[in-house]
Amino acid sequence: MSQDLKHIIRQEYLKCAQDPAHFMKKYCFIQHPQRGRVMFNLYPFQEKTLRLFRDNPYSIVLKSRQLGISTLAAGYSLWLMIFHKVGWVGSALYILLLD
Ligand SMILES: Nc1ncnc2c1ncn2[C@@H]1O[C@H](COP(=O)(O)OP(=O)(O)OP(=O)(O)O)[C@@H](O)[C@H]1O
Ligand SMILES: [Mg+2]
Repeated sequence: MSQDLKHIIRQEYLKCAQDPAHFMKKYCFIQHPQRGRVMFNLYPFQEKTLRLFRDNPYSIVLKSRQLGISTLAAGYSLWLMIFHKVGWVGSALYILLLD
């Protein structure tokens, strides 16, 4: 593998590690009820909720039904498992369990 390609992959890995929204939008698929398997293009409110999760690890979400919060928590948990300490995943999974 060329040094240029290694550098590009390393930069992309770092970008994903720093930005869960980038990771989810570029590499994650979700199951849409009508459209089937689609890229996880986060809605603006999901990006905002994601920032709240990161700033407040013990969040409780008061929400309407079917907004995509479980999907977001699943994506966030995946990001934590891949890029960060596994211990942190407990808080994100807790969101799923309370759902
Ligand atoms: N950004 C998105 N783009 C398209 N579809 C999405 C997006 N986010 C979530 N969905 C889809 O919306 C549906 C509802 O998502 P999800 O079950 O995560 O919502 P929820 O808020 O947890 O719902 P509930 O209130 O029933 O627990 C799912 O089919 C999911 O795949
Ligand atoms: Mg849910």
